[in-house]
Amino acid sequence: MNFDTILIDKNDGIATITINRPQKLNALNEITILELSKAFEMLENDRKIRVIVLTGSGEKAFVAGADISEFANFTPGEGEILARKGQEMLFNFIENLSTPVIAAINGFALGGGLELAMSCHFRIASDNAKMGLPEVSLGVIPGYGGTQRLPQLVGKGKAMEMIMTAGMISAEEAKEVGLINHVTSQEQLIDLVITIAQKIMKNSPVAIAAAIKAVNANFDFSKNGFEVEIEAFGDCFSTNDFKEGTTAFLEKRKPDFVGF
Ligand code: COA
Repeated sequence: MNFDTILIDKNDGIATITINRPQKLNALNEITILELSKAFEMLENDRKIRVIVLTGSGEKAFVAGADISEFANFTPGEGEILARKGQEMLFNFIENLSTPVIAAINGFALGGGLELAMSCHFRIASDNAKMGLPEVSLGVIPGYGGTQRLPQLVGKGKAMEMIMTAGMISAEEAKEVGLINHVTSQEQLIDLVITIAQKIMKNSPVAIAAAIKAVNANFDFSKNGFEVEIEAFGDCFSTNDFKEGTTAFLEKRKPDFVGF
Protein backbone atom coordinates (compact mmCIF):
# COMPACT_ATOMS: atom_id res chain seq x y z
CA MET A 1 0.00 0.00 0.00
CA ASN A 2 1.30 3.47 -0.88
CA PHE A 3 1.04 6.33 1.56
CA ASP A 4 1.61 10.07 0.97
CA THR A 5 2.24 11.28 4.51
CA ILE A 6 3.86 8.34 6.29
CA LEU A 7 6.70 5.90 5.67
CA ILE A 8 6.78 2.29 6.81
CA ASP A 9 9.89 0.23 7.32
CA LYS A 10 9.81 -3.42 8.39
CA ASN A 11 12.89 -5.07 9.79
CA ASP A 12 13.23 -8.33 11.75
CA GLY A 13 9.73 -8.22 13.22
CA ILE A 14 9.80 -4.50 14.05
CA ALA A 15 7.79 -2.05 11.95
CA THR A 16 8.64 1.64 12.11
CA ILE A 17 6.03 4.15 11.04
CA THR A 18 7.48 7.60 10.35
CA ILE A 19 5.12 10.54 10.00
CA ASN A 20 6.58 12.35 7.05
CA ARG A 21 5.51 15.99 6.75
CA PRO A 22 8.68 17.59 8.15
CA GLN A 23 8.00 20.95 6.46
CA LYS A 24 4.83 21.18 8.64
CA LEU A 25 6.55 19.64 11.67
CA ASN A 26 4.58 16.45 10.96
CA ALA A 27 1.28 18.11 11.93
CA LEU A 28 -1.64 15.68 11.77
CA ASN A 29 -4.00 16.52 8.93
CA GLU A 30 -6.98 14.43 7.86
CA ILE A 31 -5.04 12.32 5.41
CA THR A 32 -2.25 11.60 7.89
CA ILE A 33 -4.77 10.39 10.46
CA LEU A 34 -6.43 8.17 7.86
CA GLU A 35 -3.13 6.78 6.63
CA LEU A 36 -1.88 6.13 10.17
CA SER A 37 -5.08 4.29 10.97
CA LYS A 38 -4.73 2.10 7.87
CA ALA A 39 -1.05 1.46 8.56
CA PHE A 40 -1.67 0.38 12.17
CA GLU A 41 -4.48 -1.92 11.03
CA MET A 42 -2.28 -3.46 8.37
CA LEU A 43 0.64 -4.02 10.77
CA GLU A 44 -1.63 -5.42 13.51
CA ASN A 45 -2.76 -8.06 11.00
CA ASP A 46 0.78 -8.91 9.92
CA ARG A 47 1.78 -11.86 12.12
CA LYS A 48 5.47 -11.25 11.43
CA ILE A 49 5.32 -7.82 13.10
CA ARG A 50 5.87 -8.10 16.84
CA VAL A 51 6.48 -4.43 17.78
CA ILE A 52 5.49 -1.15 16.11
CA VAL A 53 7.58 2.01 16.55
CA LEU A 54 6.04 5.42 15.80
CA THR A 55 8.25 8.42 15.14
CA GLY A 56 8.43 11.68 13.17
CA SER A 57 10.68 12.60 10.27
CA GLY A 58 13.31 15.31 10.54
CA GLU A 59 15.23 16.42 13.60
CA LYS A 60 12.76 18.93 14.91
CA ALA A 61 9.43 17.30 15.57
CA PHE A 62 7.66 14.10 16.45
CA VAL A 63 4.32 15.80 15.69
CA ALA A 64 3.63 19.50 16.38
CA GLY A 65 -0.09 18.93 16.79
CA ALA A 66 -3.25 18.62 14.81
CA ASP A 67 -3.06 20.66 11.61
CA ILE A 68 -4.43 24.02 12.76
CA SER A 69 -5.03 25.19 9.19
CA GLU A 70 -7.61 22.42 8.69
CA PHE A 71 -9.91 23.17 11.61
CA ALA A 72 -9.56 26.95 12.06
CA ASN A 73 -12.98 27.57 10.46
CA PHE A 74 -14.89 24.58 11.82
CA THR A 75 -18.37 24.81 13.38
CA PRO A 76 -19.03 23.15 16.80
CA GLY A 77 -20.57 20.13 15.01
CA GLU A 78 -17.55 19.75 12.76
CA GLY A 79 -15.24 20.09 15.76
CA GLU A 80 -17.08 17.30 17.56
CA ILE A 81 -16.90 15.03 14.53
CA LEU A 82 -13.16 15.76 14.16
CA ALA A 83 -12.47 14.68 17.75
CA ARG A 84 -14.82 11.68 17.72
CA LYS A 85 -13.58 10.32 14.38
CA GLY A 86 -9.94 10.83 15.32
CA GLN A 87 -10.34 9.15 18.70
CA GLU A 88 -12.18 6.15 17.28
CA MET A 89 -10.17 5.74 14.13
CA LEU A 90 -6.69 6.28 15.51
CA PHE A 91 -6.05 7.16 19.14
CA ASN A 92 -8.26 4.57 20.87
CA PHE A 93 -7.42 2.12 18.11
CA ILE A 94 -3.67 2.33 18.82
CA GLU A 95 -4.18 2.04 22.57
CA ASN A 96 -6.13 -1.18 22.12
CA LEU A 97 -3.86 -2.87 19.59
CA SER A 98 -2.53 -6.31 20.54
CA THR A 99 0.87 -5.44 19.07
CA PRO A 100 3.00 -3.29 21.38
CA VAL A 101 3.41 0.28 20.10
CA ILE A 102 6.32 2.46 21.27
CA ALA A 103 6.45 6.20 20.55
CA ALA A 104 9.97 7.41 19.73
CA ILE A 105 9.58 11.14 20.42
CA ASN A 106 12.32 12.82 18.43
CA GLY A 107 11.38 16.49 18.95
CA PHE A 108 8.23 18.55 19.56
CA ALA A 109 5.24 16.46 20.67
CA LEU A 110 2.52 19.05 21.07
CA GLY A 111 -1.26 18.91 21.18
CA GLY A 112 -2.43 16.05 18.98
CA GLY A 113 1.23 14.98 18.73
CA LEU A 114 1.50 14.40 22.47
CA GLU A 115 -1.96 12.83 22.44
CA LEU A 116 -0.75 10.45 19.72
CA ALA A 117 2.34 9.55 21.76
CA MET A 118 0.15 9.02 24.83
CA SER A 119 -2.07 6.60 22.96
CA CYS A 120 1.01 4.42 22.30
CA HIS A 121 1.75 1.78 24.96
CA PHE A 122 4.81 3.69 26.18
CA ARG A 123 7.17 6.49 25.17
CA ILE A 124 10.90 7.12 24.81
CA ALA A 125 12.22 10.57 23.91
CA SER A 126 15.35 12.29 22.69
CA ASP A 127 16.84 14.98 24.92
CA ASN A 128 15.78 17.79 22.57
CA ALA A 129 12.10 16.78 22.79
CA LYS A 130 9.53 19.20 24.15
CA MET A 131 6.07 18.08 25.17
CA GLY A 132 2.87 19.92 25.94
CA LEU A 133 -0.84 20.39 25.30
CA PRO A 134 -1.06 24.02 24.04
CA GLU A 135 -4.71 23.82 22.93
CA VAL A 136 -6.10 26.39 25.40
CA SER A 137 -3.71 28.94 23.90
CA LEU A 138 -5.73 28.48 20.69
CA GLY A 139 -9.07 28.74 22.49
CA VAL A 140 -9.81 25.02 22.34
CA ILE A 141 -9.11 21.96 24.52
CA PRO A 142 -7.31 18.73 23.73
CA GLY A 143 -9.72 16.60 21.67
CA TYR A 144 -7.80 13.42 20.95
CA GLY A 145 -7.95 12.01 24.49
CA GLY A 146 -5.42 14.39 26.08
CA THR A 147 -7.60 15.40 29.02
CA GLN A 148 -7.98 11.69 29.89
CA ARG A 149 -4.59 10.14 29.14
CA LEU A 150 -2.38 12.92 30.54
CA PRO A 151 -3.81 12.63 34.08
CA GLN A 152 -3.55 8.83 33.81
CA LEU A 153 0.17 9.17 33.15
CA VAL A 154 1.27 12.16 35.24
CA GLY A 155 -1.52 12.59 37.82
CA LYS A 156 -4.34 15.13 37.91
CA GLY A 157 -2.45 18.11 39.35
CA LYS A 158 0.44 18.05 36.88
CA ALA A 159 -1.98 17.42 33.99
CA MET A 160 -4.11 20.38 35.06
CA GLU A 161 -1.03 22.60 35.20
CA MET A 162 0.23 21.48 31.80
CA ILE A 163 -3.17 21.92 30.17
CA MET A 164 -3.95 25.28 31.83
CA THR A 165 -0.55 26.86 31.21
CA ALA A 166 -0.34 25.43 27.65
CA GLY A 167 3.38 25.20 28.39
CA MET A 168 6.00 22.75 27.23
CA ILE A 169 8.09 20.47 29.42
CA SER A 170 11.54 19.09 28.61
CA ALA A 171 12.27 15.41 28.05
CA GLU A 172 13.97 15.24 31.47
CA GLU A 173 10.93 16.66 33.22
CA ALA A 174 8.64 14.39 31.19
CA LYS A 175 10.64 11.43 32.49
CA GLU A 176 10.45 12.69 36.07
CA VAL A 177 6.66 12.92 35.93
CA GLY A 178 6.20 9.53 34.23
CA LEU A 179 5.11 10.78 30.83
CA ILE A 180 8.04 9.04 29.13
CA ASN A 181 10.14 6.07 30.26
CA HIS A 182 13.64 6.95 28.99
CA VAL A 183 15.59 9.91 27.58
CA THR A 184 18.55 9.57 25.25
CA SER A 185 20.34 11.56 22.55
CA GLN A 186 18.60 12.05 19.24
CA GLU A 187 21.28 9.93 17.49
CA GLN A 188 20.67 7.01 19.87
CA LEU A 189 16.90 7.23 20.10
CA ILE A 190 15.96 4.60 17.53
CA ASP A 191 18.72 2.22 18.72
CA LEU A 192 17.40 2.39 22.28
CA VAL A 193 13.83 1.83 21.11
CA ILE A 194 14.95 -1.18 19.03
CA THR A 195 16.87 -2.63 21.98
CA ILE A 196 13.72 -2.45 24.11
CA ALA A 197 11.60 -3.82 21.25
CA GLN A 198 13.95 -6.79 20.97
CA LYS A 199 13.49 -7.55 24.68
CA ILE A 200 9.72 -7.48 24.17
CA MET A 201 10.03 -9.80 21.19
CA LYS A 202 11.60 -12.54 23.31
CA ASN A 203 8.26 -12.93 25.09
CA SER A 204 4.97 -14.49 24.10
CA PRO A 205 2.95 -12.22 21.75
CA VAL A 206 -0.30 -13.81 22.87
CA ALA A 207 0.51 -13.19 26.54
CA ILE A 208 1.59 -9.60 25.76
CA ALA A 209 -1.71 -9.00 23.95
CA ALA A 210 -3.59 -10.30 27.00
CA ALA A 211 -1.53 -8.08 29.30
CA ILE A 212 -2.26 -4.97 27.19
CA LYS A 213 -5.97 -5.75 27.38
CA ALA A 214 -5.86 -6.22 31.16
CA VAL A 215 -3.80 -3.06 31.81
CA ASN A 216 -6.08 -0.98 29.58
CA ALA A 217 -9.13 -2.28 31.48
CA ASN A 218 -7.81 -0.42 34.54
CA PHE A 219 -8.60 2.85 32.74
CA ASP A 220 -11.96 1.82 31.30
CA PHE A 221 -14.77 2.64 33.71
CA SER A 222 -17.13 0.25 31.94
CA LYS A 223 -14.88 -2.67 32.92
CA ASN A 224 -13.69 -4.34 36.09
CA GLY A 225 -9.97 -4.61 35.40
CA PHE A 226 -9.44 -7.38 37.96
CA GLU A 227 -12.14 -9.45 36.27
CA VAL A 228 -10.60 -8.80 32.81
CA GLU A 229 -7.24 -9.91 34.21
CA ILE A 230 -8.67 -13.13 35.69
CA GLU A 231 -10.31 -14.07 32.37
CA ALA A 232 -7.26 -13.12 30.29
CA PHE A 233 -5.04 -15.10 32.69
CA GLY A 234 -7.25 -18.16 32.26
CA ASP A 235 -7.26 -17.78 28.45
CA CYS A 236 -3.45 -17.95 28.40
CA PHE A 237 -3.65 -21.58 29.61
CA SER A 238 -5.17 -22.65 26.28
CA THR A 239 -2.34 -21.25 24.16
CA ASN A 240 0.63 -22.95 22.54
CA ASP A 241 2.79 -20.11 23.88
CA PHE A 242 1.89 -21.03 27.47
CA LYS A 243 2.79 -24.69 26.86
CA GLU A 244 6.01 -23.64 25.17
CA GLY A 245 6.94 -21.07 27.84
CA THR A 246 6.43 -23.40 30.77
CA THR A 247 7.96 -26.43 29.00
CA ALA A 248 11.02 -24.42 27.95
CA PHE A 249 11.49 -23.24 31.54
CA LEU A 250 11.28 -26.79 32.90
CA GLU A 251 13.61 -28.08 30.16
CA LYS A 252 16.05 -25.23 30.92
CA ARG A 253 16.02 -23.86 27.36
CA LYS A 254 14.90 -20.63 25.67
CA PRO A 255 11.25 -20.62 24.54
CA ASP A 256 10.33 -20.35 20.88
CA PHE A 257 6.99 -18.56 20.85
CA VAL A 258 4.57 -18.87 17.93
CA GLY A 259 2.12 -16.17 19.02
CA PHE A 260 -1.05 -18.20 19.55
N1 COA B 1 -0.60 22.86 12.37
C1 COA B 1 -0.31 23.34 11.16
N2 COA B 1 0.90 23.75 10.79
C2 COA B 1 1.89 23.69 11.72
C3 COA B 1 1.66 23.21 13.00
C4 COA B 1 0.35 22.79 13.33
N3 COA B 1 0.03 22.27 14.53
N4 COA B 1 2.82 23.28 13.71
C5 COA B 1 3.74 23.77 12.87
N5 COA B 1 3.18 24.02 11.66
C6 COA B 1 3.82 24.57 10.46
C7 COA B 1 4.02 26.08 10.57
O1 COA B 1 2.84 26.76 10.22
C8 COA B 1 5.15 26.27 9.59
O2 COA B 1 4.62 26.22 8.28
P1 COA B 1 5.09 27.33 7.16
O3 COA B 1 6.57 27.13 7.05
O4 COA B 1 4.34 26.93 5.95
O5 COA B 1 4.73 28.64 7.74
C9 COA B 1 6.00 25.03 9.76
O6 COA B 1 5.14 24.07 10.34
C10 COA B 1 7.19 25.22 10.67
O7 COA B 1 6.73 25.72 11.91
P2 COA B 1 7.28 27.06 12.60
O8 COA B 1 6.22 27.59 13.51
O9 COA B 1 7.82 27.99 11.57
O10 COA B 1 8.50 26.48 13.45
P3 COA B 1 9.12 27.10 14.77
O11 COA B 1 10.38 26.35 15.01
O12 COA B 1 9.20 28.58 14.69
O13 COA B 1 8.08 26.75 15.94
C11 COA B 1 6.58 25.33 17.15
C12 COA B 1 7.84 25.41 16.30
C13 COA B 1 6.26 23.85 17.37
C14 COA B 1 6.79 26.01 18.50
C15 COA B 1 5.40 26.03 16.40
O14 COA B 1 5.35 25.51 15.09
C16 COA B 1 4.03 25.82 17.02
O15 COA B 1 3.73 26.46 18.05
N6 COA B 1 3.17 24.98 16.40
C17 COA B 1 1.83 24.78 16.84
C18 COA B 1 1.78 23.95 18.08
C19 COA B 1 0.36 23.77 18.56
O16 COA B 1 -0.29 24.68 19.01
N7 COA B 1 -0.14 22.52 18.45
C20 COA B 1 -1.44 22.17 18.93
C21 COA B 1 -2.41 22.21 17.82
S1 COA B 1 -4.01 21.75 18.42
